[in-house]
Amino acid sequence: MIAITVRNLGFKYEKADHWILNDLSMDINKGEITAITGGNGCGKTTLLRCIRGLTPNIYKGKLVGDINILGKDLKEMDSLQLVKTIGIVFQNPETQLFSSTVEDELIFGAENLCIEKDEIEKRLKEILTLTGIEDLRLQNPGKLSGGEQQLVAIASVLMMDPEILLLDEVMSWVDKNNRIKIKSILTDLKNKGKTIVMVDHIDENIEFADRIIKI
Ligand SMILES: Nc1ncnc2c1ncn2[C@@H]1O[C@H](COP(=O)(O)OP(=O)(O)O)[C@@H](O)[C@H]1O
Ligand SMILES: [Mg+2]
Repeated sequence: MIAITVRNLGFKYEKADHWILNDLSMDINKGEITAITGGNGCGKTTLLRCIRGLTPNIYKGKLVGDINILGKDLKEMDSLQLVKTIGIVFQNPETQLFSSTVEDELIFGAENLCIEKDEIEKRLKEILTLTGIEDLRLQNPGKLSGGEQQLVAIASVLMMDPEILLLDEVMSWVDKNNRIKIKSILTDLKNKGKTIVMVDHIDENIEFADRIIKI
């Protein structure tokens, strides 16, 4: 089964004079870990922005081609559907953490989606365990190490229970121990049926993936 189809995708940022992505096509299998690799500036982050529907609305520019997510045309998905279907974790965890405790950070997104309190409690327990951050529950995310912050960022996205998880170079500010942890979390998620797409240009970080696509 295919989770994401990209067909003849092109993207050019507003005011830029060249196409960053040009006639790009790929299929991402459901329930697998797919790694996307490629040199600095080749458009890996841009591709994730396109798949998550952040272009051309948030990141302005010209988008051509087609993206299909779990059988739906991306153009026909609204932002609520996108939030519920595709979680995205960015390279720099600091930019996506803003609460005063880890617990609040995790609850925030789920509350915004109007998920019931009991369900939020249940997910909170599960995800703190899955990501191994139970001990950090009452800590201030701003005071954690880069690796711990990235675990919190991943956990807060998982609270929304997306079927697809996109990760943009999430291991780059993370020490070796936490990189091992992240790989094991992603493998657990895959075993639970999630589709994982990770961007990373370092071979060692992606060798555990099921499939590697070079762009
Ligand atoms: N918001 C933006 N506006 C204009 N140009 C951008 C923007 N974001 C990225 N770019 C440019 O697009 C190209 C691809 O960037 P990016 O997708 O971040 O590549 P990668 O993640 O593979 O390093 C780069 O030349 C970068 O300067
Ligand atoms: Mg990038």
